Amino acid sequence: MPERVLCQSQDLLERGMARCFTLQWDGRERNAFVLRYDGGVYAYLNECAHIPVELDFNPGDFFDYSRRWLVCSTHGAYYAPDTGLCLGGPCPGRKLVSLPVREYANQVCLIEEKTQNE
Ligand code: FES
Repeated sequence: MPERVLCQSQDLLERGMARCFTLQWDGRERNAFVLRYDGGVYAYLNECAHIPVELDFNPGDFFDYSRRWLVCSTHGAYYAPDTGLCLGGPCPGRKLVSLPVREYANQVCLIEEKTQNE
């Protein structure tokens, strides 16, 4: 199964800074990120579900002050880190675009075969 190593496991601290990366999506290069939450790793396109702008004002810093939610720096939509579901702000019920990742052998990998739009 084609996979791309995004980073080492120890690079992702619990509810810490994300690792940003790019991938081909809908025929163009897109920005994305991967982070750790409750021990798991989760990756999303870096695009708000409200308006297609990047979420982070400071690159790689997606968590709010409580370190519980991912927050959009433009209008404050907040998302569940493990599902990408918007739970408050201007677009409740919408979701971030999730990307398939897995962690093994101390590496965090993007499962490229499952990135349907590549
Ligand atoms: S652009 Fe993200 S909440 Fe409006």
